[in-house]
Amino acid sequence: MSSFSLAGLFTLALAATSMAAPALPSFSFPKPPSGLGKPLAGRLACDPGAAKLVLPTGQTALTAPTDAISYVLLGVGFQNYTCTDAGTYASAGAVADLFDISCLNKVPAIFNSIQDIAYTAWKLAPANVKTLGASAVGYPLLGQHFFATSPSGTGISPVWDFRATSAKGKADAFVLAAKVGNTTAPTGAKDVDWLQLKNVQGSLATQIYRTDTRGGPAPATCKPGSAPITVKYTSKYWLYGGSVKV
Ligand SMILES: *[C@@H]1O[C@H](CO)[C@@H](O)[C@H](O)[C@H]1NC(C)=O
Ligand SMILES: *[C@@H]1O[C@H](CO)[C@@H](O)[C@H](O)[C@H]1NC(C)=O
Repeated sequence: MSSFSLAGLFTLALAATSMAAPALPSFSFPKPPSGLGKPLAGRLACDPGAAKLVLPTGQTALTAPTDAISYVLLGVGFQNYTCTDAGTYASAGAVADLFDISCLNKVPAIFNSIQDIAYTAWKLAPANVKTLGASAVGYPLLGQHFFATSPSGTGISPVWDFRATSAKGKADAFVLAAKVGNTTAPTGAKDVDWLQLKNVQGSLATQIYRTDTRGGPAPATCKPGSAPITVKYTSKYWLYGGSVKV
C-alpha cells in the first residue's frame, strides 16, 4: 500500500482551489495538542471515559452502551460493493485504518470535526492511494478494520484488529462482530448508516458502534456484470468492554 503525504495533499488542494469556485474546507490534520495525553509507544494514554457517545434521537435500533469505553477510533477507508443481477449494489465488506482519537474528547472542536477533516483529505487523495498513512493523519495507528469469513463458514463478518499494528504478539487483540442494529445517519443517506455491533470472537471489545459517518454509500443502481466498486468513507468507531490494553 502506498501512503500519501500531507504536503502532497496541500499542493493538490491549492490546485483544486484555484480551479474550483467554492473554496475547499480546511483539511490539514490538527496535531494532537500537547497535554492531551501521555504519549506511549503508539498510543496517547488517557482516560477516554469523558468521550460520550451521543446516539440519534427518535430511533430504537441503536441502544446505549452498557460496558466501559475502551477506545475511540477514527476510521479512514473504503466501503466495498458488488453489482447484483438485479442492478443494485450489495455490500461486500470494507477496509479501513483505525487511528487513536481516544484522548481527543478533551478538545471538542477537533474531536467533533475530525471525521470531516479526514474525509476531505481522503477524497483529495488520488485513486491509486489506498491509505492516508499514519504520519499524515497525526494520530497513532492502532489497527485495521476489515471483513473475514464468518465463523459459520458462510458470509463475511466485520473485524477490528490491532494484532498487526499496536498489539503484536497479543493473539486476542481483535474483535469479530455481528450487527445489532443500524439507523440512518443524522446527516442523511449520503453517509453510511450508524451501527451497533456485538462481540462474536476476540477480546478487543464487547460492543462496537460506528458513528459520525462521512461518505461510503453505493450508487442506487449498477449495470449487471459491472466490476465491484470501492467508496471512500470516514467514521468514528467506539469500542466498549474487552480486556486488551495497548
Ligand atoms: C475492499 O476494497 C479495498 C480497496 O480496493 C481492498 O483493499 C479490500 O481488500 C476490499 N475488501 C473486501 C472485503 O473486499
Ligand atoms: C438498516 O439497513 C438495512 C439494510 O441496508 C436497510 O434496509 C434499513 O432501511 C436500515 N434501517 C434503518 C432504520 O435505516
